[in-house]
Amino acid sequence: MAKVAFTYEIPEIAEKKLTEAGFELWINKEDRTLSHEEIIELAKNYDALITLLSDNINKEIIEAGKGKLKIISNYAVGYNNIDVEAAKKAGIFVTNTPGVLSDATADLAWALLFAVARKIVESDKFVREGNFVGWRPKLFLGYDIKGKTLGIIGMGRIGKEMAKRAKGFEMKVLYYKRNRLSENEEKNLGIEYADLKTLIKESDYISLHTPLTEETYHLLDEEEFSLMKPNTIIINTARGPVINEKVLIKYLKERKIAGAGLDVYEEEPKIPQELIELDNVVLTPHTGSATFETRDKMAEMVAENIITALKGEIPPNNVY
Ligand code: DGY
Repeated sequence: MAKVAFTYEIPEIAEKKLTEAGFELWINKEDRTLSHEEIIELAKNYDALITLLSDNINKEIIEAGKGKLKIISNYAVGYNNIDVEAAKKAGIFVTNTPGVLSDATADLAWALLFAVARKIVESDKFVREGNFVGWRPKLFLGYDIKGKTLGIIGMGRIGKEMAKRAKGFEMKVLYYKRNRLSENEEKNLGIEYADLKTLIKESDYISLHTPLTEETYHLLDEEEFSLMKPNTIIINTARGPVINEKVLIKYLKERKIAGAGLDVYEEEPKIPQELIELDNVVLTPHTGSATFETRDKMAEMVAENIITALKGEIPPNNVY
């Protein structure tokens, strides 16, 4: 009987599907990330691993799995936590969960955009602390959204959902992507291509939707920040290291940009104290895909990829 290990509990639908398929399951039911050594043991002894983006699946783990492990099914769309090259060499499939979390992630990016632009979190705190003593002309002034320019960096599935939602706010949408979309697609989405510098200079809101790769590491660094307008608001629901966090903090502190809405951080789960102390940021704990419906769909996909791979076929969401 083939064996599947979960490094962490995920929605029950995965367990149900895999049990029905006849696999033996081991599920880490403790609320903690497994250690490197524990994952090595799983890789040696199981046919399939279900991993989270917080599990660092490096070469050593993959080497340990060689011969036994057939698939690493990541419970996320991003897979920068896995050494895909090493897995490919070892003949181990690596799968992700594309598509099903695009809406939820774009929704969170919009929620952060609104929260920062209209100072929702600060206002809430102000009210709860009993400071609301009457309407004031300059109380919590924020920024308009309708008619402004939104710059989307990365125009994959999530970027496109972000753009679709901007139509309702009659925004001008600029986008930057390594490979430009077809004219037809640009027209349908109502978006205009711009090089990175132009996008940064012209946007009031900048939302990141790129995967983390060598090319996108610190894509927004000192030079890029220096081009931003003082009213720029940055939203990051992609991956923390796409932004140089130290530079971001400096610009936020010196009020050279207006604010940031962040769901991801350079060294998760560590968040610099300086960021926590700033009042022009809204912070969420990497919950882009965190809706009941989305997480169920992701769990189903994770299971389906394993079922296919353990039949000896290429799983539908193999990433290489
Ligand atoms: C993913 O699946 O990669 C997302 O970051 C989850 O929010």
